[in-house]
Amino acid sequence: SVPTIPYPKNDPELSFKEGLPQTVKLKEQLANTTVVDIPAVIGGVKYFSEDIIEVRPPHDQNRVIARIHRPNKEMIEKGIAACADASKEWANTSFADKAAIMNRAAEIIDKKKRIEIAAATMLGQSKTIDQADPDSGNELIDFLRFNAYNAQRVYADQPLTVPTALNRIDWRPLEGFVYAISPFNFTAIGANLTTAPAMMGNTVLWKPAEKASLANYIFYQALEEAGLPPGVINFMPGKASEVSAAALGSKDLAGIHFTGSSEVFQGLWKGVAENLSRFKSIPRIVGETGGKDFVLAHASADADVVAISLVRGAFEYQGQKCSAASRAYVSESLWPAVKEKMQAMLATLKVGDVADLSTFMGAVISKESHEKLTARIQSAKDDRECKIVYGGKTWKEPGFFVEPTVIEVSNPKHNLMEEELFGPVLTVYVFKDEAWDDVLQLVDSTSPYSLTGSIFCTDRYKLVQAEKALVNSAGNLYINDKPTGAMIGQQPFGGTRASGTNDKAGYWLNLMRWVSPRTVKESY
Ligand code: SER
Repeated sequence: SVPTIPYPKNDPELSFKEGLPQTVKLKEQLANTTVVDIPAVIGGVKYFSEDIIEVRPPHDQNRVIARIHRPNKEMIEKGIAACADASKEWANTSFADKAAIMNRAAEIIDKKKRIEIAAATMLGQSKTIDQADPDSGNELIDFLRFNAYNAQRVYADQPLTVPTALNRIDWRPLEGFVYAISPFNFTAIGANLTTAPAMMGNTVLWKPAEKASLANYIFYQALEEAGLPPGVINFMPGKASEVSAAALGSKDLAGIHFTGSSEVFQGLWKGVAENLSRFKSIPRIVGETGGKDFVLAHASADADVVAISLVRGAFEYQGQKCSAASRAYVSESLWPAVKEKMQAMLATLKVGDVADLSTFMGAVISKESHEKLTARIQSAKDDRECKIVYGGKTWKEPGFFVEPTVIEVSNPKHNLMEEELFGPVLTVYVFKDEAWDDVLQLVDSTSPYSLTGSIFCTDRYKLVQAEKALVNSAGNLYINDKPTGAMIGQQPFGGTRASGTNDKAGYWLNLMRWVSPRTVKESY
């Protein structure tokens, strides 16, 4: 029988105001110059290699915070074998035992490692504290608690039984291992991509993103401390191409849990297709990829609300959320007020080192990203269809900085309205108030993605019309709110079209992908 876990509450936000004990601790942690050696962990054993990558904060290229020991091919194969070994016991471990470990890991993060993991997220991924702790603290803890709660909903579901036969479903894990590939932009996503399948009895090979490796390793250590048996999740901070080649080449690959770019996701699908006849089971492929998330503001909207939502939605975490507002359609009568308010707000916001807790935006993640953004902004400056409304500066010392940049385009089908840039660049198209019907069509047809979107409108009939017209334009639709910051348990997250398989992270729907039910009929 399944014990009852009550519906969890979202983990409360922690304040980092000046002078609070956690703020003092955070500052100490940020100033700590220890360089952490990050090994691969296979079957509970740490493996250090000679193939070392240094991790530097994106905002401070002069500092090293960690050294990743990349596993070689042999170690990766060992990781896959460790998944098979651990599976023998883990697949038969009870719901209660698995839930206890996940909830205990949540407690360890909250009570013991919260500041350490927040600082690692700030340094490794260049997040400000108001972005870091809601990720590596609140959201990570919520994923663990809600997945445990939601697993019980899955396990409790049983089919109809009749007087002549007892029917039941055995909620088995998949037969084989799950390959989890997690992104740099949320520490919490790494936790979810691994523990959601593990909660359902699967064993996992985990390839964390390089820049998130430090924060992800701290989480991994919390799992170990919580008593996750060796080999259930094998930490594999290797070269993506090598880890993926080994995973895709194994007959035991049973699932892929991915968050990252559409391009990489498509590569994984192709890899699965090429190897299809060799797998023991057809792998489940679950992924959340990019977005070109829209904000649509009707003439009836409140200019203050639109302006603040655009600033937060487009520029928090340097626009590096797949949910970030990146193309806005604003009605002509509203735009002058929205523009002015945005310009005034942006002028007060600091871009720089995240160790200064009043910073609004840190650096973008890498040199490559910085180069791409710089080139796109430069071409907008040279383009007669574009007008820079705010920002436009980029600089490289001591890290990869890009000013929050707002570009107004006269062509609603401009490439800047279509392509995901993954940086602090917001493109705006101003439409005639009477062109509402046409703009709905534009919002739906302009980008290949369908992740998040926002409609700002106080006219109920126009809103209803937009909701219907945009029914397939976003997996997460926000009304009179920014398109970022989905809360676990409140707004199950995921999108369609080029944005992924829409299996809703943090929700029972996602957990259903990690079980392979066996139906049993016993006749009397
Ligand atoms: N879940 C995040 C958000 O809603 C994105 O991954 O912003």
